[in-house]
Amino acid sequence: MAKLTAVMMIMVALAFICISVSADPDLLQDVCVADSSSGVKVNGFACKPTFNSSDFFFDGLANPGLTNNTMGSKVTPANVEKIPGLNTLGVSLSRIDYAPKGLNPPHTHPRATEVVFVLEGELDVGFITTAGVLVSKSIKKGDVFVFPRGLVHFQKNNGDVSAAVIAAFNSQLPGTQSIATTLFASTPPVPDHVLTMTFQVGTKEIEKIKSRLAPK
Ligand SMILES: *[C@@H]1O[C@H](CO)[C@@H](O)[C@H](O)[C@H]1NC(C)=O
Ligand SMILES: *[C@@H]1O[C@H](CO)[C@@H](O)[C@H](O)[C@H]1NC(C)=O
Repeated sequence: MAKLTAVMMIMVALAFICISVSADPDLLQDVCVADSSSGVKVNGFACKPTFNSSDFFFDGLANPGLTNNTMGSKVTPANVEKIPGLNTLGVSLSRIDYAPKGLNPPHTHPRATEVVFVLEGELDVGFITTAGVLVSKSIKKGDVFVFPRGLVHFQKNNGDVSAAVIAAFNSQLPGTQSIATTLFASTPPVPDHVLTMTFQVGTKEIEKIKSRLAPK
């Protein structure tokens, strides 16, 4: 009997460990509202001594973001930089809007898995595993799709009407590294000889891409 109880307790403990695995570290107090004016460097942000409901509120996802840019898409974050109360809580959201044919170009979130819920329209989405396998699907209003932490992924609106999703992240600040701009629009630039060898093309092609992706 005692043996069985011990086995069950170990199983329950293991289940809890599995459930509590999250991208951000666990919290050590009820709240730690981010003090963005503090110069104190910690893993996250220092806590404000006083706070109120405004620190836990954001209405910036209510309306579509402007998609009149080169990619035809706009990510509007609702992370700890917008909602100080998210500090240490390990979650955040974004709203992503897509013009017809708009693309959220290949990128990764180094600190979070992403789950999207389609508000409007239809999207062709996909991620690529470290084994080089593309996992892709067409998703529509009401559908949910998951992009595992750290893997390169994208969303493309191949429809003739606008699309929008709400994205949830298991990090207060997932971070975004866009593949093309990381390699071709960094400051200082990645040397041409690195990129010509990587992509097996000439300097002219690399310079062309760099000029197209240069910050405007
Ligand atoms: C919260 O406090 C700030 C000042 O720190 C104030 O500007 C704001 O109006 C307060 N909000 C509420 C809902 O009390
Ligand atoms: C996008 O549209 C907004 C408002 O319609 C305008 O203010 C802005 O200048 C436009 N941006 C570009 C890049 O055209």
